[in-house]
Amino acid sequence: MRSSSSCLASVALLFAEILHAAPTPQSSEILANPDFGPIPAESSYYSNYNGTSPPFPGNYTQPVFPTESGPPGPDDLLFQNLAGAEWAIYNFYQFGVDTFNESAFVEAGYPASTYQRIIEIRDNEAGHARIFEEAISNTSTRPAQCKYQFGITSPVAYLAAHTVVEIASMAFLTGLILQATLDSSKAALVAVAETEARHEAWGLIEIWNQSPFGGPVDTVFPYANQILDTTKVFVVPNSCPAGNPTYPIPSQNLPALSYAENSTTLLPGSPITFAFSNPANQPTFDANTTYYAVFFHGLLNITEPFNTKTYSSIVPPEFEAKGLFLAVIADTPGAPTIDTVKAGPLVIVEQPVEINSGIL
Ligand SMILES: *[C@@H]1O[C@H](CO)[C@@H](O)[C@H](O)[C@H]1NC(C)=O
Ligand SMILES: *[C@@H]1O[C@H](CO)[C@@H](O)[C@H](O)[C@H]1NC(C)=O
Ligand SMILES: *[C@@H]1O[C@H](CO)[C@@H](O)[C@H](O)[C@H]1NC(C)=O
Ligand SMILES: *[C@@H]1O[C@H](CO)[C@@H](O)[C@H](O)[C@H]1NC(C)=O
Ligand SMILES: *[C@@H]1O[C@H](CO)[C@@H](O)[C@H](O)[C@H]1NC(C)=O
Ligand SMILES: *[C@@H]1O[C@H](CO)[C@@H](O)[C@H](O)[C@H]1NC(C)=O
Ligand SMILES: *[C@@H]1O[C@H](CO)[C@@H](O)[C@H](O)[C@H]1NC(C)=O
Repeated sequence: MRSSSSCLASVALLFAEILHAAPTPQSSEILANPDFGPIPAESSYYSNYNGTSPPFPGNYTQPVFPTESGPPGPDDLLFQNLAGAEWAIYNFYQFGVDTFNESAFVEAGYPASTYQRIIEIRDNEAGHARIFEEAISNTSTRPAQCKYQFGITSPVAYLAAHTVVEIASMAFLTGLILQATLDSSKAALVAVAETEARHEAWGLIEIWNQSPFGGPVDTVFPYANQILDTTKVFVVPNSCPAGNPTYPIPSQNLPALSYAENSTTLLPGSPITFAFSNPANQPTFDANTTYYAVFFHGLLNITEPFNTKTYSSIVPPEFEAKGLFLAVIADTPGAPTIDTVKAGPLVIVEQPVEINSGIL
């Protein structure tokens, strides 16, 4: 049994080499063993792996099916959703490593260390993928990566996207704590959000020459799956491996929210004309219902009028120009329940604000 399976494994390896293709489905099952591969917090691999080829576990492309029968663990669904998000984020950094090199960033005017830092962040994100996959119990499927498209060609666009990815992930990690059952899961989510905050602070200092600080508190947005939903635009349609869990669960499939170019500076007090960028998923506004633009920042939310004919509103003048704002269209002031949200969220980055206003 053992020798025939290792024989099969070497045949599979040969094919993988010939095709430059992903490993066979069976090979991913070894990921159920928490002792396989570099161990986060023991190995420095998830900081120091310097290769350009995908680090572990990014060198596996098939889901890990349940190795035991029984009910799912209490936070399996949360970690399946989070792993789905993490695979997109890890691949965003692997894409950066594949697409650019040290001189590409230097020629664009960024520090010589930029490429190395992107490699390190890529390694941290691979570590997150390993941690989240391990947090899923053996009675549930561990999702694999899909293929992703980022539509980015320039270093500046890439670094701007990095800043958005990091601060948005801080927000959905915070929101996921509200779904967690186990206290140990909540603590793990905080610890990972802290790592994303370090990545964000690096970019603010080294890339944008700004203060690394974003005010006394980052943004809490309670409907984390709505942020996860917005990341589906990066998934190449039909590219997820068979057997992957749907991502995310549950999904409201809300209309995507954006804004008309040049309609706003996005600074507090600026007028804003929203837009619904997906022609296949447009909102319908009931004539007898009043709709609102609800903005979240720090621990607050502020509700502004929303004109359902012109899509116009205003960025709350009360907010400080720091960190992250999230905006949704809702049919109730304050969007107090998840079902009151009708479109969005829109991620608005205030540091540097040029990221959103099309200057970069
Ligand atoms: C899950 O399965 C793997 C591989 O069979 C095993 O190494 C691991 O100990 C199992 N985990 C738990 C918590 O039982
Ligand atoms: C990775 O590469 C960078 C820059 O090329 C170097 O400073 C660093 O020491 C390398 N790390 C390892 C672990 O080799
Ligand atoms: C993936 O990388 C890990 C760590 O280097 C290694 O142990 C494993 O054999 C690799 N697997 C594949 C399929 O490349
Ligand atoms: C970086 O990439 C550019 C083009 O993408 C290439 O011309 C250049 O030789 C590369 N530099 C290094 C150091 O690999
Ligand atoms: C909108 O912004 C573009 C640059 O992104 C600029 O060329 C154009 O003139 C602006 N249009 C208006 C109406 O301000
Ligand atoms: C709006 O309310 C009016 C008066 O109550 C009613 O006649 C009309 O059918 C309602 N329209 C919709 C779309 O519900
Ligand atoms: C927004 O703020 C209001 C007033 O403080 C609160 O009642 C409401 O629950 C908040 N909305 C969310 C989604 O937290």
